[in-house]
Amino acid sequence: MLQFFTSGESHGPQLTAFIEGLPAGLELDLVEIQKEMQRRKIGSGSGARQKMETDTVEIVSGVRQGKTLGSPITLVIKNKDFANWTEVMSASSTDTDPELKKVHNPRPGHADLAGALKYGFTDLRNVLERASARETTARVAAGAVFKQFLKALGVEVASYTLQIGSVQSDKAGNFEEVKQAEEKNPSTRALSTEAHAAMEALIAETRLKQDTLGGVIEVWVVGLPVGLGSYVQWNRKMDGQLAQALMSIQSVKAVEIGEGIAATQKHGSEVHDPILYKEGFRRPSNNAGGLEGGVSNGEPLIVRVYHKPIATLYNPLPSVDFETKEVAPASIERSDICVIPRAGVIAESMTAFVLAKNVLEKFGGDCMEDLKSNLENYKKRVG
Ligand SMILES: Cc1cc2nc3c(=O)[nH]c(=O)nc-3n(C[C@H](O)[C@H](O)[C@H](O)COP(=O)(O)O)c2cc1C
Repeated sequence: MLQFFTSGESHGPQLTAFIEGLPAGLELDLVEIQKEMQRRKIGSGSGARQKMETDTVEIVSGVRQGKTLGSPITLVIKNKDFANWTEVMSASSTDTDPELKKVHNPRPGHADLAGALKYGFTDLRNVLERASARETTARVAAGAVFKQFLKALGVEVASYTLQIGSVQSDKAGNFEEVKQAEEKNPSTRALSTEAHAAMEALIAETRLKQDTLGGVIEVWVVGLPVGLGSYVQWNRKMDGQLAQALMSIQSVKAVEIGEGIAATQKHGSEVHDPILYKEGFRRPSNNAGGLEGGVSNGEPLIVRVYHKPIATLYNPLPSVDFETKEVAPASIERSDICVIPRAGVIAESMTAFVLAKNVLEKFGGDCMEDLKSNLENYKKRVG
């Protein structure tokens, strides 16, 4: 079974991604992995941290001479900022002052309060160092590997920005449009130029107001074989698996498959995609977003990911000192204003993981050659 985990604190020495279960013989393009890391760093509304870090990925296990070995893959991203935090983040108890950079006032909307109560901390830094979305650098590094695995099987993943705050962009009509958005408007990744300009203006205005924004990302996947996931057991349904993986991204509060939300206000006759047969089964529309009964149906997978506005406010909300219980403004950590433009690559990474896992469950194989021949045989059967 394909699995991946991450470790590392926001200001610790490094982030690590550990992947177990990928077959041997997958060619990995290291430059491509680095490009994905760069995509996570760039976008309007980002904070200073993105400028400081290079997010260089080092592969320290599981890959040799450009190909996977079938053994666990470990990816390491060193935190440059650690140089400024060595004392605060030291693993040793002897060379640190516990009051240094201690965080006292929990931020509404962050994990600070619930996390400190749960784990019995008085320094909220012990929570935020791991709850921080700096962790997503490791997800994106792993996701870059999953995307290359899928690409080797003819499956491609991309995303664009559908909404930032109240500004909505045009919806993509096909995969080419999805891919073009980033090239056309790299700082927002919106499809239409008008929406891009309005989003830029809204982010600038929000920065001046010392407030934050959320938004919506749409992920598309093409080239998926029919039959990934299953309806036979609740935890094998791929819509459920995608929702879990995508909801686990920091600040994501809703996940929608196809026309999920709009469909709730329509009649069934307007929503469900007719079935035709012309040299194979065809669907003239794709309101289902490529999944029926938790199973891929051969149409493009379309998933929307909804992020709430960032919790850290430079004009902070009321809070209390965690120890004294005195009224105090919420703490401020260096923060982004809006992460939507650069969060698409994180959603792509988590989507790619779920798909890669389901591909491996269905087609198996210890090496890419076996996997590919299993897939080809299956494709011959289903036509
Ligand atoms: C790419 C990315 C960057 C983020 N950067 C920040 C940030 O700078 N400041 C902040 O308060 N929250 C940031 N967040 C969101 C928080 O990490 C998140 O709201 C928090 O961990 C609480 O989790 P929850 O919102 O999922 O409940 C970011 C999220 C993502 C996806």
